[in-house]
Formats: sequence, structure tokens, C-alpha cells
Amino acid sequence: MMPPLEGGGHSYLILKNFPEIKIVGIDRDEYALKIAEEKLKKFNGRFTLIKESFRNVDTVLKSLRLEKVEGFLFDLGVSMFQLKMERGFSFQREEHLDMRMDTAQKLTAYDVVNFYPKAALEKIIKEYGEEKFYRRIVKNIVEYRKKKRIQTTKELADIVCRSYPSSLRRGRIHPATKTFQAIRIEVNDELGEIKEGISKAIDLLKHEGIIQVISFHSLEDRTVKNIFREAKRLKKLKILTKKPITPGKEEIEKNPPSRSAKLRAGKRL
Ligand SMILES: C[S@@+](CC[C@H](N)C(=O)[O-])C[C@H]1O[C@@H](n2cnc3c(N)ncnc32)[C@H](O)[C@@H]1O
Repeated sequence: MMPPLEGGGHSYLILKNFPEIKIVGIDRDEYALKIAEEKLKKFNGRFTLIKESFRNVDTVLKSLRLEKVEGFLFDLGVSMFQLKMERGFSFQREEHLDMRMDTAQKLTAYDVVNFYPKAALEKIIKEYGEEKFYRRIVKNIVEYRKKKRIQTTKELADIVCRSYPSSLRRGRIHPATKTFQAIRIEVNDELGEIKEGISKAIDLLKHEGIIQVISFHSLEDRTVKNIFREAKRLKKLKILTKKPITPGKEEIEKNPPSRSAKLRAGKRL
């Protein structure tokens, strides 16, 4: 049976189906690496797992004395297990406002929500959340934190809900979805990581090497599309996916979180 694509799932299938391939796996979440190590153990000797950020892909390869590689696969965003662990990514349960992928990092969602200036919070929720009620949300956050620190995901989710017009509070998508996405992107500097990591990866590809990136929301996908376009303009990359590849009905049924996935690929010139 196919293992779920969580915790080393892609690596598992690549190692299984391509016996000549070796993998270097990078994740900034130590726990993700532990799960992957367990899942991949039967391929011992063919993989190296390193706790690092995507933006440091160059130093990772250097430390392994690898100058260039044949391929990159980036699977962006958060894992299902990260959402399920008590890391404050989810507004479905009451958890401390954390949202760090790398638990050794200093900045948490608590810091962003309680200490960022009003204008910075507005910019983040507007741009990273694409949230049209950002002004009301931030006004209510700032009023609340004058009286008391915002400690939990539930407190934040309630503030966001109250900021929505009452007619929109019970829609299909929870009102806190966009605000949580925005704060998570800020805490983990997700777009900065993508820009730096993917640009470096394109430079670290061998001639005709392939880069593939799976993203999960429009801001990520737009960032990837722009990096690929720029690399094409510089004659570094041939874009292999005019439009991103999306999962079919069958895959979405088997793996519902894949429904928003978009894969873009390019070949090094
Ligand atoms: C969608 S999951 C990928 C799951 C993976 N395909 C697998 O099969 O295990 C995204 C993973 O990327 C990691 N991640 C996200 N952004 C990262 C970054 N900038 N640097 C390092 N790891 C990152 C997260 O910690 C998470 O474990």
C-alpha cells in the first residue's frame, strides 16, 4: 500500500521507484525529520536528512561537498502533523499562539499578535491573508491587547470572528482562516524563504536538472511563478508547466488536503 505523503512520503516513493537516486532531505522542523527517518529506514545509506531552512540550501549542499544536483522537489507550507500537534497553527482547538515550524526559532505568533505595531499587523493581514476586513480585525486586536495579552488561538479566532459582519460569520470558510494564514506566513517568513531557497536551488541545478515546487495557496504559487519567470528571462530555466499541475478528482478523494496543491516544474538550461 502507498504510504501517505506525510512525513517523508515523497522521498519514500522516489527512493522506492528510482533505485539509482540518493536524496538529501531538508526540513526546519526536527519532528518532521524524525518521522521521515523512521519511514525511510529501509533505504538506509541512500538518504541524508538535515534540519535547515530552505533558504540555506546552498550551505547544506556545501556541507555535503555537493556542488550541483540533478533535481529539487520543494513541498511548501505546513504538514498535516504540524496542524495536528499543539503548535498553535489551528483555530479549531485552544492552543498557545505559537505557529513556529522550527521550535528553536525565537519569534512566535504570540509576539506578532501582541507586540507588532498596528500598521505592520494591518499590512501582514491585508497582504499575506488577502483579508478584506483587515482594518477591523487589527483595530479589535489592538483594543483587546491594551487590556490583556492575546494568549491562545481561540482568543485570536474569536476576535477575528467578532470583526466580521455578522452575516458572514457562519460561512463555509471560518473567518479566522485568512488571518491565521497571514500570521503563520509572517512567523515563518514563508515568502522570503521561498524566494531565497528556490532562486538558490535553480543555481544549484546541473544542466537539464529539474526543479519542482508544490505550493498550497495563491501567494506561494504567485511567488514561485515569478521566480520561474525571472529565471526564464535570465535563460537559466525552461518552464515545463505553462499552467500548474493540479490533483485530479481521485487524488483529492484519497488525500483531501491535496485539493489546493499546485505543482510547477522547470528544467535548468
Ligand atoms: C507540506 S509539508 C511536506 C511534507 C513532505 N512532502 C513529506 O512527504 O514529508 C511541508 C514541510 O516543509 C517544511 N518547511 C516549510 N517551509 C520550510 C522552509 N522554509 N525551510 C525548511 N522546511 C520548511 C515544514 O516544516 C513541513 O514539514
